[in-house]
Amino acid sequence: MNRILLRNGKVIHPDRVADEDILIIGERISRLGPNLPADESTIVLDCRDRLIFPGLIDAHTHMGVPIKDGFSLDDFLTGSRAALHGGVTTIIDFTVLNDDQTLHESVLDRHANAREALTDYALHCNITRFDEQLISELPDLISQGILSYKVFTTYEEAGMYLTYEQIRSIAQVLADEGGLLMVHAEDNDVLRNAARPLFSKRTAEPIYHALSRPDEAEVRAIEQLGRIADEIRCPIYIVHLSSARGLECARRFEGLLVETCPQYLLLDEEVYHREDGRMFVTSPPLRKIEDLNALWQGLETGAVRTIGTDHCPFMLADKQQNIPFQDIPNGMGGVETMFPVLLSQFLERGLDLSLLVRLLGSNPAEIFGLAPGKGSLAEASDADLVVVDPTSSSRDWLPDLVSIADWNAYAGFSAIFPEHVFRRGEWVVKNGQLQPSRPGKFIPGKAPNLWPR
Ligand code: URP
Ligand code: ZN
Ligand code: ZN
Repeated sequence: MNRILLRNGKVIHPDRVADEDILIIGERISRLGPNLPADESTIVLDCRDRLIFPGLIDAHTHMGVPIKDGFSLDDFLTGSRAALHGGVTTIIDFTVLNDDQTLHESVLDRHANAREALTDYALHCNITRFDEQLISELPDLISQGILSYKVFTTYEEAGMYLTYEQIRSIAQVLADEGGLLMVHAEDNDVLRNAARPLFSKRTAEPIYHALSRPDEAEVRAIEQLGRIADEIRCPIYIVHLSSARGLECARRFEGLLVETCPQYLLLDEEVYHREDGRMFVTSPPLRKIEDLNALWQGLETGAVRTIGTDHCPFMLADKQQNIPFQDIPNGMGGVETMFPVLLSQFLERGLDLSLLVRLLGSNPAEIFGLAPGKGSLAEASDADLVVVDPTSSSRDWLPDLVSIADWNAYAGFSAIFPEHVFRRGEWVVKNGQLQPSRPGKFIPGKAPNLWPR
């Protein structure tokens, strides 16, 4: 079994930073502590002046999802390669429920797609149609480690919309069975009213995407979902929260767990006026500077619990066509740049690096039942580790990306890419270079007790 000793690093835990060594044996962390001994069979990596993070979790990716005329850009192989290069060793992706499929069938299909993943992975199960037969499948799926179920309060035209009543009945089953409900929270009626007069313009200007999806839609949906969560005592995870008003509303409810994404922390709606403005079309849309500031505050107060990317990129040619704004494929990439860019931001802003570990590691691991194996560094946890040189911040990293995408939203931002990454003890990034590696594996979620928090 391989033995690797990471010597003299600064280890970032969710609650503290410690100067200690880490001994990896096989796939696990065997010991942490000062001055650990190494025998001749041990590979020693000098981590002096380096930060060591747990392998990060991106709990919101969409690898190769079917859209109107094809698939979103990354599949599990290319997307997971990009993830590892950026320090993400576990992704949680979503199933796709085709017409006439059972939830079990949709999960099996997604496992088949995910066989190529080089990161470890877990799955959220999309429920994009409502019927009793589907709901009856939940207890068995939960026992297989599929803990989280995502529904949409919008996308009626794509046949994915569920009413609040339908969502409530799913929440009830999940509360009873120890599952977790996740919601794309934009109210369908608000969107319909806002969009109707704009859609008829058939303009290609992407700023209309933002105008057609106001923050009021987020507020209205969160209000309804908060009531459901607190009445039923079922935690509800709000994915990709984008606005100050949405966050303010979510804070009023005990049972809501809030995720935001790098794009809502780092980019504002002014980008829609750029020449490449269509590339930033994603839902919910990018907001205003005041929203960004409120979300950064929300990270610090704990009101925002996790950051995930909503990774769903497209090529320039797919999004830059001169087509009406409402027809631009929705979604942006982020799995490769999330940690490098956020780490740089945290250091520039003087923020606590343990907070970054909670947002990208221990919180998603706890919420999605992947702890204690994932999300933090401890004896017996999986040897998923990221070593970075905090002085290696650069704005010139674009040519080094391994993603097959031909555009990146964060070009020009400072970023600190990992020097080394280990995934279950395997050295998958060495001196910044991706190494050939074995495939990742499915990590079943174990029902955590999320209520009361
Ligand atoms: O526009 C987005 N975010 N596309 C990905 C699917 C979703 O709604 O999360
Ligand atoms: Zn969504
Ligand atoms: Zn998404």
